[in-house]
Amino acid sequence: MRHRIAVIPGDGIGPEVITSARAVLDAVAGRHGIAFDYDEYDWSCERYAREGAMMPADGLDLLRPVDAILLGAVGWPGVPDHVSLWGLLIPIRRTFRQYVNLRPIRVFDGVASPLRAATDVDFVVVRENVEGEYSEIGGRLGRGQPEELAVQEAVFTRAGITRIADYAFSLARGRRGRLVSATKSNGIVHTMPFWDEVVTERSAGFPDVEWRAEHIDALAAKFVLQPERLDVVVASNLFGDILSDLGAAVAGSIGIAPSGNLDPTRTYPSMFEPVHGSAPDIAGQGVANPIGAVWSVALMLDHLGHDAAARKVVSAIEATLRTPETRTPDLGGTAGTPEVTKALVGRITG
Ligand code: NAI
Ligand code: MG
Repeated sequence: MRHRIAVIPGDGIGPEVITSARAVLDAVAGRHGIAFDYDEYDWSCERYAREGAMMPADGLDLLRPVDAILLGAVGWPGVPDHVSLWGLLIPIRRTFRQYVNLRPIRVFDGVASPLRAATDVDFVVVRENVEGEYSEIGGRLGRGQPEELAVQEAVFTRAGITRIADYAFSLARGRRGRLVSATKSNGIVHTMPFWDEVVTERSAGFPDVEWRAEHIDALAAKFVLQPERLDVVVASNLFGDILSDLGAAVAGSIGIAPSGNLDPTRTYPSMFEPVHGSAPDIAGQGVANPIGAVWSVALMLDHLGHDAAARKVVSAIEATLRTPETRTPDLGGTAGTPEVTKALVGRITG
């Protein structure tokens, strides 16, 4: 089977970890009868500095026909972060209806979690990715005046809550059958009760999934105190953003965390990217942890229907992290990106 993948390495360590991810992808493809054609794009803050735009005017049209998009990270000092975000990431997520942001979290053997007793941590945060609190509706009045005010509207739709709830319930069904829905219906009295109602309605279609709603504050505490009890967590855009970064921290390093921006209807291409940014502080040193990008490639293989190949990549990650010699400095090791890549490829082809 052949797939066309758009690759956007981006800025900083983005190109370093994407080189690694592509090496792993090619190694596993060779073993599983899959072939990838890559369209590589230099869309980045560097391009913005040179040409005044993160991507060309027809950028989204170039991406539309591909099977998936693989992204490193964008962002660089000197270019405001809202430019890199709203000039590339958000247009891709919203135009291609990537309404699920999937963030798996695991404490791997060999990786020290900042939590003393974290073992058997293996859960997924499903973040609503296109509506909710991150809306463009609102405004400011009376700038600079004592009575100055700002209003930002959160937008929740029945269709939006339904599809994210359905996605989360079916994901839980294929895992350990447990779902927690993040809410705050005691304090946010319009949108969150609506969220709870629609999630409750959808639960009727999944009698085999044990679920409950939990307030976001208590749930945040549970991420730290009892992360092993979580299986799938579904949350609105803002709550999911915060919870998934907290989850990544619990797992030991942001360098490991992967994400998928999914259009489960497969009308549009989905996008896969490590959770971390361009890490200007370590860029160009060859020490970036490539696991977040490599695990993202496993999510991509899964999405493209290649579960065996995806499992192979994840087991290569497990073995590589278990070995002290093949851990990067963020995990207390001394290996560089190329050594970790070589180890991962060796586990797949060896
Ligand atoms: P960051 O994730 O780039 O870095 C935070 C810290 O984690 C740094 O100390 C960095 O060295 C370390 N780190 C990150 N990834 C690592 C890896 N793979 N291996 C080892 N260490 C790693 O976040 P920061 O510094 O807040 O943002 C830097 C730039 O990246 C900003 O311009 C920001 O807007 C952008 N960014 C882009 C994202 C994206 O493209 N989706 C996501 C997050 C940030
Ligand atoms: Mg975030």
